[in-house]
Amino acid sequence: MLHGLIRNMCGIVGHVSGGASLRSQEVVMGGLARLEYRGYDSAGIAALGNELQVRKAVGKLQNLRALLKAEPLAPMSAAIGHTRWATHGTPTTTNAHPHTAGHLALVHNGIIENADALRVKLHSEGATFVSETDTEVAAHLINSLYEADGENDTLVAAGGADTQSPAAARLARALLTAMRQLEGTFTLLVIHEDAPGVIVAARRSSPLVLGIGEGENFLGSDVLAFAEHTDKAVEIGQDELAIVTAENIIVTDKDGQVAQPKYYQINFQTEAADKAGWPTFMEKEIAEQPRAIADTLADRFDATGHLALDELRIPAELLRTIDKIVVVGCGTAAYAGQVARYAIEHWCRIPVEVELAHEFRYRDPVVTEKTLVVAISQSGETMDTIMAIRHAREQGARVLAIVNTPGSTISRESDAVLLTHAGREIAVASTKAFTAQLAACYLLGLYLAQVRGNKYIDEIEDYMQKLGEIPAKVQSVLAGAESVRQVARTLAEESSVYFLGRHVGFPVAMEGALKLKEIAYIHAEGFAAGELKHGPIALIDEGVVVVFVVPTPRRPELHAKVLSNIAEVKARGARVFCVAEEGDQAAAELAEAVFAVPPAPTLYLPLLTVVPLQILACEVAKTRGLDVDQPRNLAKSVTVE
Ligand code: AGP
Repeated sequence: MLHGLIRNMCGIVGHVSGGASLRSQEVVMGGLARLEYRGYDSAGIAALGNELQVRKAVGKLQNLRALLKAEPLAPMSAAIGHTRWATHGTPTTTNAHPHTAGHLALVHNGIIENADALRVKLHSEGATFVSETDTEVAAHLINSLYEADGENDTLVAAGGADTQSPAAARLARALLTAMRQLEGTFTLLVIHEDAPGVIVAARRSSPLVLGIGEGENFLGSDVLAFAEHTDKAVEIGQDELAIVTAENIIVTDKDGQVAQPKYYQINFQTEAADKAGWPTFMEKEIAEQPRAIADTLADRFDATGHLALDELRIPAELLRTIDKIVVVGCGTAAYAGQVARYAIEHWCRIPVEVELAHEFRYRDPVVTEKTLVVAISQSGETMDTIMAIRHAREQGARVLAIVNTPGSTISRESDAVLLTHAGREIAVASTKAFTAQLAACYLLGLYLAQVRGNKYIDEIEDYMQKLGEIPAKVQSVLAGAESVRQVARTLAEESSVYFLGRHVGFPVAMEGALKLKEIAYIHAEGFAAGELKHGPIALIDEGVVVVFVVPTPRRPELHAKVLSNIAEVKARGARVFCVAEEGDQAAAELAEAVFAVPPAPTLYLPLLTVVPLQILACEVAKTRGLDVDQPRNLAKSVTVE
């Protein structure tokens, strides 16, 4: 039994160059550094010189760099690298990738679900295992198939004479055969001593992109791995294989038939991948929110003044038949969905359910061809959300993805895509992606209202006008950040903080609690303010910190109720902080401090009220001396279930 089935949510980088040099090592190590934000606990590199060379180290990349300094690699024609994020089993050099078998090495992202059975079979055939990983099983499987391969190399290069070495074709055949035996998810990059200057790669439900260079080519689990070298990329489809040399890329389907690669332009600025003077990526990305919202909202009207969501590929007449919307997502993305529900139900009069993606398919949901499933995901690679949309499509639903990563798995497996334009989000804790998701959800709601006739064109214009004012309002909240930071520094030693909100303030409270949990490691709980008297008030005692997201006084039925909730906890000795609209005297009189936001329509307030909570969590974490951008135990994209 694989005690520590090592589940990976890793960074993968590959490079092939025209001849023996250290270029591949430089590209791979630089790429792994770009992917550090994903979180990891060990790293390794394998290179093809005159022989196969492997170096692995536990901990941060600098440990691997130190090892390479102490034990330099010989010049090479190809290299593959890996940062491993283990969910089970202690991080050790033995468990770190690359893994080897015979004269090959490979790196892997994903989970081989039938690794145990394969391990027993391969062991009975003489394979010797040194690690507890499922990845090593894949290495031995491919090696055994490679060694057993006949000489009839049948793989012909795309467009004419076979430009691959027989060994490359043989390695490709071994990987294709292995893919038929592997169950689960994988991105695999494989190199073999017999095939210098060649990387063979394949994917199933785990990300893989290729980059096209001049006299060199790149591979990665994320375009960020090589975006500084090229903006030309190739999308590798489900169960496709690629044979990559410095001069050529051959893509085949699962049967080895040469397929036409899908080329695309990488349209993101690698400047996103550096802090541009900010102390942390999170602080930079909090500050980028006005632009993220504005860019997501930009250019959404057509010449006739109607909302036009160009990338939305679901016909209007079909949207008119929708009788239910189900929003699926995880973590912060799910909270964006909860805010969206208030807006879409109010504008479109369609029932909207919001379901945690990992719960969705197990509850046997009622989904028909009249259901629109909206999948919200920053990375577009969250496996729980991928599995949810696959289930939805099997039930006949249309799926619309709201993603921040073009070309991601979720965007490719959906019927329609509404892109957020937050730019690359590096910090594990989502901030600008969240507010951009809210903006996209409002766009979707207004578009549905327009298409279904719930709102007239002038009403849509008014809503969009008010939405267009939000980026400047966010900017003014950011200008008041120091007052939030001052309070945050006094909370760094708290053991528990409660966040309460009502209506659209309730999901904001949940998001505020999640931020504090995930980067300051402080227990925090968000819940509906109305829930207080149904149990949670028992938690309130002298000095307990409670943060309220206060509705606008212009909604007295909501505002008054929250004020009474504040009075209830104050009566029991709580310390109260409020996020409230500027000029809310009642809240100011009750709170130890108010994090003020400019007035805005109730449905849009989350775009403003979440910002002080992001700043609060960030400053508490910094005060506690924690790694704000790469919090412990977390990865930026959860690519396993
Ligand atoms: C947010 O701060 C967290 N890092 C996490 O909850 C995240 O929102 C969730 O894993 C969903 O990720 P996605 O948006 O990339 O699908």
